[in-house]
Amino acid sequence: MRIFVLGGTGSIGSPIVRELDKRGHEVWALARSDVSAAKLRGCGATPVEGDIAAPARWIARLPPIDAVIHAACDFATEMGAIDARLLDGLLPRLAAQPKKPRFIYTGGCWLFGATGDEVATEDTPFRPLGAFAWMAPHLARILTSPEVDGIVIHPAMVYTADGGVFRRFAREAIERDAIRVVESEAIRWPLVHADDLANLYVLALERAPARSSYIGAAIDGFSVGRIARAFAKRFGTRHQEPQIVSPDAIAAELGEWARGFGLDQQLSGAKARRELGWRPKHLDPEREIARLR
Ligand SMILES: NC(=O)c1ccc[n+]([C@@H]2O[C@H](COP(=O)([O-])OP(=O)(O)OC[C@H]3O[C@@H](n4cnc5c(N)ncnc54)[C@H](OP(=O)(O)O)[C@@H]3O)[C@@H](O)[C@H]2O)c1
Repeated sequence: MRIFVLGGTGSIGSPIVRELDKRGHEVWALARSDVSAAKLRGCGATPVEGDIAAPARWIARLPPIDAVIHAACDFATEMGAIDARLLDGLLPRLAAQPKKPRFIYTGGCWLFGATGDEVATEDTPFRPLGAFAWMAPHLARILTSPEVDGIVIHPAMVYTADGGVFRRFAREAIERDAIRVVESEAIRWPLVHADDLANLYVLALERAPARSSYIGAAIDGFSVGRIARAFAKRFGTRHQEPQIVSPDAIAAELGEWARGFGLDQQLSGAKARRELGWRPKHLDPEREIARLR
């Protein structure tokens, strides 16, 4: 298949590009800078120069495509308006193709809000974090669009041993006296390793029915305090106990979207395992952190 990836250099997108290339797919990917274009070439993709905020400038340069994977986001305050403009430009272009393409849209765990002791599934109604409330109508648009066969994946918190949502812990373990945790040590994050998630996207591309949604959670919920403590131990951080910061403080530092770091959530990836045969391999983040060099 020829697949067009948006966000192909990101935490979610870059392992997807590598996995698609490994499986023999032809990958084209949007690049807003020379650095991103070089990274994409290095992963076997053909870069298309352009910005999600200005789709009219690059859409005409796309070849006919079999599928789109959209995992791009710049986390600016106007990210909802940018995404709407992108879909307004891209969907009619895809509708003009002779063959209807598949379109995988990236939702997210923060659409489900705090779940506490409940474990959310694809049937749980959304209670989105304010900064991402715009996303719910966008994914509904993809799932009901006559222009594409839409599929939605809601990734859990995406990590690698020292990257993705763990990057800040790794940096603070080295640079500060204590690792910061938002809200409480006891809050849980649903987790998925970036490589397992990439595998889920490829399975969805190949097997998921149109109009279906899947939660990409390998671990329903894992204590954030335990993750912070594992990093503090591994790097010998002066205070092993995490420093608790408020959601207001992290939002002031990183933006409103960062309030999501303070949500206590559990999400189930059972549907993806059952229907797509997804078998995540990374199930012990503490061991991966302990083995970091
Ligand atoms: N990471 C998670 O744990 C997680 C969990 C659930 C849902 N999500 C959702 O998944 C999506 C992607 O997240 P991520 O963590 O992979 O983000 P990320 O690592 O920051 O990557 C963002 C990607 O989007 C590209 N991009 C950003 N602004 C762009 C623009 N104006 N034009 C073209 N490309 C642009 C970036 O390209 P450059 O190389 O040019 O920067 C990069 O490839 C977001 O919607 C996020 O909410 C993420």
